[in-house]
Amino acid sequence: MPDQTPDNSSKKRWIKPVITPLRSGMLNKSGGSQNLSWTESIDGVPIKQLVEEFGSPLFVVSEKKLRRNLQRLKHAFESRYPEVICAWSYKTNYLGAVCNSFHQEGAWAEVVSEFEYQKARSLGVPGHSILFNGPFKRPAILETAIIEGARIHIDHLDELYTLEEIATRLRRRVNVSIRLNFDTGFTEPWSRFGFNIENGQARDVAWRIASSDYLQLTGLHSHIGTFVLEPRAYQNQVTTMYQFLTEIEAQTGAVIEYIDIGGGFASANALQGIYLPVEQVVPSVEQYAEAICDTLLELGHEREARGLKRPILILETGRALVDDAESLICSVIANKRLPDGRRAIIVDAGVNLLFTAFWYNHKVTPTRQLEGRPEDTVIYGPLCMNIDLMRNSIMLPPVNVGDTLIFSPVGAYNHTQWLQFIEYRPNVVMIDTHEKTWLIRQAEELSTITDLERLPEHLQDPYPQGEPEDIFNPLSQPD
Ligand SMILES: Cc1ncc(COP(=O)(O)O)c(C=O)c1O
Repeated sequence: MPDQTPDNSSKKRWIKPVITPLRSGMLNKSGGSQNLSWTESIDGVPIKQLVEEFGSPLFVVSEKKLRRNLQRLKHAFESRYPEVICAWSYKTNYLGAVCNSFHQEGAWAEVVSEFEYQKARSLGVPGHSILFNGPFKRPAILETAIIEGARIHIDHLDELYTLEEIATRLRRRVNVSIRLNFDTGFTEPWSRFGFNIENGQARDVAWRIASSDYLQLTGLHSHIGTFVLEPRAYQNQVTTMYQFLTEIEAQTGAVIEYIDIGGGFASANALQGIYLPVEQVVPSVEQYAEAICDTLLELGHEREARGLKRPILILETGRALVDDAESLICSVIANKRLPDGRRAIIVDAGVNLLFTAFWYNHKVTPTRQLEGRPEDTVIYGPLCMNIDLMRNSIMLPPVNVGDTLIFSPVGAYNHTQWLQFIEYRPNVVMIDTHEKTWLIRQAEELSTITDLERLPEHLQDPYPQGEPEDIFNPLSQPD
């Protein structure tokens, strides 16, 4: 008998139809991307394997990318300016494995609190390779920083007086820097930090230090903002700082060894409200380097003519070094249809883990080829809180419960601002340069939180009069 089995090989697969209402501002069916890119691995390690071993959600750091990013930044600046120091901004990501990847590539530490100072020291960074910024440094940690030779950047007059008191007591000459604020014409001045140049306050402070027996002004610092998309802002920053340097050197006799321009370079992330593609909006580190170094070299001619060394250039780059070196894998836990017709999905990672979801439209990458027509989709996190919105609107084909999605770049400011809120914080792993995976921060469990708590004696028992009756259990009701 001939084979009666129908040949289905050439038949098209059935795909569930969807009706998509047209909304203003949204792409129509012709504009929606049909070819969402997808990936099965990170740095050569299969995502399936990562999730099986370390669970979901899961943060994944690429050591290769961390190192490459710093090497590229250093090369961009060192090939244009004679002496450059990169200091890793701890507040951007202070996971030990991340910090040490940068330190091994030659980065100093830039810290803004006692905790960050202690963390850098505990990782093995010597005091003389620490830049100590920030408005709140307790006297005890200032004293330690003086003794250990850290570079202290003074934020306000009260800090100056405290420093002077400690230096006098220790009978020690201390090299200090001052943080400056001023208008670059491109960025909102962060005038709450440091001393203002335009109103003369910074000049007065330079004079005040010059009159001190124990303090000596040797550095100038400023940080003009974060995610600064305009390299010309940095041209104006270094011009202003250089003019100030020249003026106070001439007037007070100080010799300034370095200009620290802080951080602020944008990372390859999509800021909410900016609709052009990231590649068109975010300058490369080479573009920032060119703007800064060309200006500094030009300004330095006159100084060189006077036989003086050019000041060392210090960078405190944060997000541009770390953001694209980390991804967040999460899993779809539910599909929903909202009353207005939009599709929603719920994933197992929320804004308590991904703080930057408030500012960025992170890239969302599926981990298999998704079939079906993309639809405007809202991605919610797992928290029982209305604010838990991971992506407000993204064209996504249908996904199944259990599918994994990758949010990226997520390396900047998430591990330092994440919250233990409702859910435990998950594992963080690093894939090293040989594609080996290391657990670099363990997932939390109940004891992580309760170990820090103390129950007063009279509150040890929730029901000292005996456990309440289960009023809904018919067996417990009287006959
Ligand atoms: C003093 C200082 N330096 C460096 C940074 C790092 O900035 P970014 O991550 O924008 O490069 C910050 C961030 O706010 C900062 O306050």
